[in-house]
Amino acid sequence: METLVVDHPLVAHKLTTLRDVRTDSPTFRRLADELVTLLAYEATRDVRVTDVTVDTPVSPAKGVRLAKPYPLVVPILRAGLGMLDGMTRLLPTAEVGFLGMVRNESTLKAETYATRLPDDLSGRQCFVVDPMLATGGTLAAAVQFLFERGAVDVTAICLLAAPEGLAYMDKVFANTGRPIRVVTAALDERLNEHGYIVPGLGDAGDRLYGVV
Ligand code: URA
Repeated sequence: METLVVDHPLVAHKLTTLRDVRTDSPTFRRLADELVTLLAYEATRDVRVTDVTVDTPVSPAKGVRLAKPYPLVVPILRAGLGMLDGMTRLLPTAEVGFLGMVRNESTLKAETYATRLPDDLSGRQCFVVDPMLATGGTLAAAVQFLFERGAVDVTAICLLAAPEGLAYMDKVFANTGRPIRVVTAALDERLNEHGYIVPGLGDAGDRLYGVV
């Protein structure tokens, strides 16, 4: 598995405000949206394109367009929804599938409660968006789901990652032979006893949408 920590002052600046406990929900949403756009720029470096020619007002010019089948963006509900608009703004022709997963707070294991994805993902590049890569249980289950349906490669975009989560992903997908990348704004220190990322930013879903 490949991990990319996007090292850019704008990313660090926005992430700092996102972490701040005084940042209110509207600001948190806006910053999460802006951050995902910056991360997605790096995460889509290998997105497939096909060569085309267009006519400028002056002459024909060679260029590229996103290749079909278009990428699939998969937000993991609920917190991943806060990263969806930023992704589709950058990839307007992408399709969107949904995975509802919740972490059982006693076992810290991922449980799936909703899926809305194409049955056949053969040949598709998939971009999973989930703000917090903590234990890795949810992300690993989501990636497994996509591979079972035929996805060729999966890139996960997370605002923050914990070393434990990356190690777990590495272990689970060690021998799959299929490319997996994690793109994140920061690699934090560790998980605490409740499975929260330290220093982290708290519960991303609650900070985006309130405690419901
Ligand atoms: N999920 C969150 O929202 N925050 C964490 O720190 C870990 C998992």
